[in-house]
Amino acid sequence: MKQVYLDTFGCQMNVADTDRMELILFHSGYQRTLEKEDADLILVNTCSIREKAEQKTFSLFGGLKPLKRANPDLILGLTGCLGQQDGKKLLQRMPYLDFVMGPDQVEGIAQAVDRVRTTGKSFVWTGFDQEKAYSIPEISGDLPQTPGASAFVNIIKGCDKFCTFCIVPFTRGREKSREPEELIAEISHLVSRGAKEIILLGQNVNSYGKRGLKKAMPFHELLYCIAEIPGVERLRFTTSHPNDFTRETIRAYRDLDVLQNHLHLPVQSGNDSVLNTMRRDHTIAEYLELLTELKSEVPDIALSTDIIVGFPGETDAAFEDTLTIMEKVGYSSSYMFAYSPRPGTPANDLPDSVPEEVKKQRLQKTIAMQSQISQQQGQVYIGEKVAVLIEGRSSKPGYAFKGRNPQYWNVNIQGSDLKTGDTVTVEIEQVSGHSLNGKALL
Ligand code: SAH
Ligand code: SF4
Ligand code: F3S
Repeated sequence: MKQVYLDTFGCQMNVADTDRMELILFHSGYQRTLEKEDADLILVNTCSIREKAEQKTFSLFGGLKPLKRANPDLILGLTGCLGQQDGKKLLQRMPYLDFVMGPDQVEGIAQAVDRVRTTGKSFVWTGFDQEKAYSIPEISGDLPQTPGASAFVNIIKGCDKFCTFCIVPFTRGREKSREPEELIAEISHLVSRGAKEIILLGQNVNSYGKRGLKKAMPFHELLYCIAEIPGVERLRFTTSHPNDFTRETIRAYRDLDVLQNHLHLPVQSGNDSVLNTMRRDHTIAEYLELLTELKSEVPDIALSTDIIVGFPGETDAAFEDTLTIMEKVGYSSSYMFAYSPRPGTPANDLPDSVPEEVKKQRLQKTIAMQSQISQQQGQVYIGEKVAVLIEGRSSKPGYAFKGRNPQYWNVNIQGSDLKTGDTVTVEIEQVSGHSLNGKALL
């Protein structure tokens, strides 16, 4: 078999796309290698959410150039969101690239590689697929790898929200959902191959079912359907937008034992005026009201968020509002970012008013605030017995395995006779960062 080296930047959707390309290529004669030097084909699945993500891609390609020079038969492809965004410009900047593709072309990866082999010419494939429906057909036969204990399943692609800072609606196109039957078949297959937990993926999962289905189906109904599939022990989803998060979904948390008590509900900023300029279309009061209702139904739910600091027009006082909301909600964890202007987005036309230095200081403050909150939140578990799905070996010295509790905390586990895919009861002894450490009870 030929060898393919795959590298991925960006979100879980990109990770899922890379897995899909690995599967398609496996059926056209490529197996994955972890050594670039051994590869006949190198694919970099890129992200353009912030400038830093782009820079990482460019420096990676800088390192690949000598490999191509040494082996002209090596095929180099750039896929993903940066490909969609910059298309032809990337071929001009990196003439040693063989092809550039966008995220909507993932299903065509084997054809792209064939085309390079047969024509020897470079090209760009960045059209959005014209199909009304979104389908990821099952590929029968052998798999390049067995699923882990926790498996991701794309349920919706694209985003129609157009938050003013965000490139995703431009790189991933309009929202389209997959048919429930296709999802149920895929999940049943994953479970039969050993997956215990299913994480439903999309940029805005709560919009599921609005477009692209033969018959509209709201997101919460999908949750109830999946919960019925025998063998699904845990169910999660990410990411949610506060405006599409419904009362029915709150009820699903209450009704469905398999739906784990964690919700990632990005707030971005704690200030109404900033939220308005971001076009998030809700206020902080509305966000908090939603959480109050959720907590009244599911008291032990853990919440996590995304935060952007230094958005245009964010004053010191507006930034303080972000620290306040973080403290008030008590997030178990946060992904925190300094605002990065993205070409073509509406916010790019606003003056990037917060100096880089101030963005950095604000980012440091949110990180410090979050680690303090995580420490407090984690204390709740000390001495408690929590159910942990084991996902693999722990890298923490003295701990054999790692996994997650229902609230999505990392848990490092001491114990013997454990194996990946088991759910064990762990007595928590320590908190460090967003991890809990403890020992398995037999
Ligand atoms: N669909 C998800 C997340 C999309 S991208 C949602 O709506 O929540 C993940 C996160 O990256 C965003 O939530 C936001 O916090 C951050 N992000 C997106 N664009 C950014 C930009 N231009 N600069 C800094 N952070 C950004
Ligand atoms: Fe981007 Fe907003 Fe869509 Fe999330 S909801 S992907 S932040 S446009
Ligand atoms: Fe990045 Fe595209 Fe995901 S921009 S965050 S890889 S949707």
